[in-house]
Amino acid sequence: LNTKQTDISKLRENYTLASLNESDLLPNPIDFFNKWLQEAIASKLPEPNAMTLSTVNENGRPAGRILLLKEVTKAGFIFYTNYESRKAQEIKSHNQVAITFLWKELQRQVRIEGKISKISRAKSEAYFITRPIKSQMGAWASAQSKTIKSRAILEQKMEELKERFKDTNPLPIPENWGGYEVIPDYIEFWQGRRSRLHDRLIYELSGNKWSTSRLSP
Ligand SMILES: Cc1cc2nc3c(=O)[nH]c(=O)nc-3n(C[C@H](O)[C@H](O)[C@H](O)COP(=O)(O)O)c2cc1C
Repeated sequence: LNTKQTDISKLRENYTLASLNESDLLPNPIDFFNKWLQEAIASKLPEPNAMTLSTVNENGRPAGRILLLKEVTKAGFIFYTNYESRKAQEIKSHNQVAITFLWKELQRQVRIEGKISKISRAKSEAYFITRPIKSQMGAWASAQSKTIKSRAILEQKMEELKERFKDTNPLPIPENWGGYEVIPDYIEFWQGRRSRLHDRLIYELSGNKWSTSRLSP
């Protein structure tokens, strides 16, 4: 990549695409999330289901990484990963997380907070077998978040797995792989507006009732 140096302090966009009004909201924030997700998909954004998952470890140190949202249920948000990964360790010691979506072409952000737990084994299995066989094998090959001496070791592991599973399709689900569901108690919908006067509408759960309010940008 041949690039010249650009002063990033000069980079800025004015957001003028849309507005977000109280009257746009639906009673349930997950329904409203689905509306925005479908709009992101319809707009043909690349990987509209990509999101940042933020966790904290036992010392309160935060970490974030991008994951793919794989299902929105009535209750929450499901993704799949390795149950021995760094994120899994952090979730084990602290079950509150945040997920953040950026649909920047739509000048939109969604911030979700809540409690996280593993989904049922049956549900993880049902999803695992729908993945392409190479992805299934990748899940077997990778001890996610552990140090590895070289790329070659990973490639060799994959070759061994190809041999071991040459007559197996779909593969059995690895013990240490599966889904998590984030059950929200707070969701913010952010729509960029002119002159940094953005719209920020939040839903908060108290008891089993969602209430909404507007935050200053
Ligand atoms: C666009 C994108 C999608 C990703 N999707 C997933 C995913 O669905 N599950 C997953 O475990 N890792 C996914 N990753 C990799 C994670 O960002 C991360 O590297 C990995 O989960 C290890 O994180 P950890 O060490 O904090 O546990 C994705 C990365 C990118 C850039």
